[in-house]
Amino acid sequence: MQTDLRGRDLIGDLDFTKEEVETVIDVAFDLKRKRAMGEPHPYLRDKVLAMLFFFSSTRTRGSFEAGMAQLGGHAAFIESRTTQISHGDTEKEMGDIFGRYFDGIAIRHVDWGIGNRYLNLVAEASRVPVLNMQCDFYHPFQILADLMTVIEKKGRDLRGKRMVVSWAYAASYLKPISVPQSLILQMPRFGLDLVLAHPPEFSLMPEIMDQAREEARKHKTSFEVVDDMEAAFKDADILYAKSWGPLITTTDPDEGKRIQDQYQDWITDERKMALAKDDSIYMHPLPADRNIEVTDGVIDGPHSVVFDEAENRLHVQKAVMALTMR
Ligand code: CP
Repeated sequence: MQTDLRGRDLIGDLDFTKEEVETVIDVAFDLKRKRAMGEPHPYLRDKVLAMLFFFSSTRTRGSFEAGMAQLGGHAAFIESRTTQISHGDTEKEMGDIFGRYFDGIAIRHVDWGIGNRYLNLVAEASRVPVLNMQCDFYHPFQILADLMTVIEKKGRDLRGKRMVVSWAYAASYLKPISVPQSLILQMPRFGLDLVLAHPPEFSLMPEIMDQAREEARKHKTSFEVVDDMEAAFKDADILYAKSWGPLITTTDPDEGKRIQDQYQDWITDERKMALAKDDSIYMHPLPADRNIEVTDGVIDGPHSVVFDEAENRLHVQKAVMALTMR
């Protein structure tokens, strides 16, 4: 078990080794049990996390804030628009100054071509860990929660299990590509055979695809890319179907919407779910466009694990904060 995580950043999914991720998951299970038993676990007493948001959030804000309180510390919610960032505070200033006030800096910045760079520049200037609450490339805490959920539902030996990461249609907005990218990077390390399904215009970043293929090769799992949602669902154990924008094809929102609107039949419904294994699970990070991206019958149905998945955000985040911010 690798436990030397004090002071470390978590920005990209591969920043922690597989063994370090296993430590995070072990600690998360322990913290989940402690919370269920009402056992106090103030590992971060008097520590303070800055939570800097450039984009809206329900689960990420709620779970980081509750998590810090449960660890005996405090989380400061900071909306970027209420800061002096737009009046000139640079990434270096934010990292250096917040690093002197706080014991960790968590940031959500999903703007395409900007977010990941911002986090890395803050991290370069910060003396405390920088934690990625979602950027344009990665959503590592979501994927740690997803991994914990998969282990809870399917056991620790995931070898030979087929996980589908599928694009799905949404009408609300062009969603970031960070979730599918983080999934294809992290999940092969834990033995899952991955099928990535999307219409041609919804490809992911070529360098991330190369890294994902390399992880699959190293861990002797399969990694397949298809453009047919139904074919992907056939005999799947885990279905993770969500929308993302065609950002590699176009960054123009109107053009993106026009492309997206061609694929309204990419909805997760009961008929498609029936193609998967009888004991398959349906996952989604939320928020979902109900009855557009996924039917109520599926997301509220017997295969859905979305509430456990959302809960596990709390436990994995507490684990990473306790390990890195001590
Ligand atoms: N899944 C997720 O990150 O949810 P929020 O956008 O509500 O934080």
